[in-house]
Amino acid sequence: MTEATPFAERLADLEGEALAALAAVETEDALEAWRVSYLGKNGRLTGELKGIGALTPAERPQAGARVNAIKAALETAHGARREVLKEAARSARRIAEAVDVTLPGRGRGVGTAHPLTRALARIEDIFAGLGFSVASGPEVEDEFHNFEALNIPAHHPARAMHDTFYLPDGRLLRTHTSTVQIRFMEVERPPFRIIAPGRVYRADAPDPTHSPIFHQVEGLAVGEGVHMGHLKATLSRFLEAFFERPLTVRLRPSYFPFTEPSAEVDIGCFLCQGQGCRVCKGTGFVEVLGCGLVHPRVLERVGIDSERFSGFAFGMGVERLVMLRDGVSDVRLFYENDLRFLASLR
Ligand code: DAH
Repeated sequence: MTEATPFAERLADLEGEALAALAAVETEDALEAWRVSYLGKNGRLTGELKGIGALTPAERPQAGARVNAIKAALETAHGARREVLKEAARSARRIAEAVDVTLPGRGRGVGTAHPLTRALARIEDIFAGLGFSVASGPEVEDEFHNFEALNIPAHHPARAMHDTFYLPDGRLLRTHTSTVQIRFMEVERPPFRIIAPGRVYRADAPDPTHSPIFHQVEGLAVGEGVHMGHLKATLSRFLEAFFERPLTVRLRPSYFPFTEPSAEVDIGCFLCQGQGCRVCKGTGFVEVLGCGLVHPRVLERVGIDSERFSGFAFGMGVERLVMLRDGVSDVRLFYENDLRFLASLR
């Protein structure tokens, strides 16, 4: 056949059309639909193969060979297209699953000790520098160590000031760390200088300035010739170190059953420079702790000769000190464990 017959032309068109359609196939499904429509049992090329019977016997061999050649060409093209689609799918998956090692990490945030723990560590540190060592005692105490031995007899009004949690067996949760004065002096002899940091408990309803659990640091120094001057110097050094600034320190006469004389310690309000503000209630001073010279009866109770030895003692609330220093307005914040608050304190 030198001239193109209608049959041959149709085959050429079909091949061109099939290849063009194949090039436009973008998915596995579309590829299968393409195969069915051209190469399938009822496909267009198969249809042409069937049409060969209508040709003259002379035309048939060449026509048959032509259909088979186109079929082979379409099958090859189909296989190639399938490879292209597979590779495209593979690389799309690689991109989707890729780990970008240049992205910043998520980070976990660095934890820190609780602000009260840090304050206690600092207080211990400052007193260590003044020659004080750390002593401790039980949180579950008896009336003797919490009251009696500290010169607070039953029915003394000072007992009413301590809203005490009692246990069914008559013991109690210590209301102050002054108990450790007694515990320590029951076994140690002067001279000594100690502080006793720890938790204390009072049956107070929680409010911005009260928490049923809080922390105190007790101090006790006993030796020969210990006097108020030693006490004031020690506390001034401590307070200036704790608040990290020069301070006016004032001792104001007060009363505690276990000290004589007793004093309340005030510092000049550093928020208003003593001018008077909300924190110092207009007085220019804020009260920070209680102190005094150890009452002779307390020394005698634990068998220490009060003629020969004297001592000073002090007790401070840790939450109160941190609140003053860092401007915290509600003691309950220390116990609610809101990380935003905890992380806001240095
Ligand atoms: N124990 C007292 C309290 O909890 C605080 C205190 C005051 C302790 C004077 C002392 C002191 O050692 O001398 O209220």
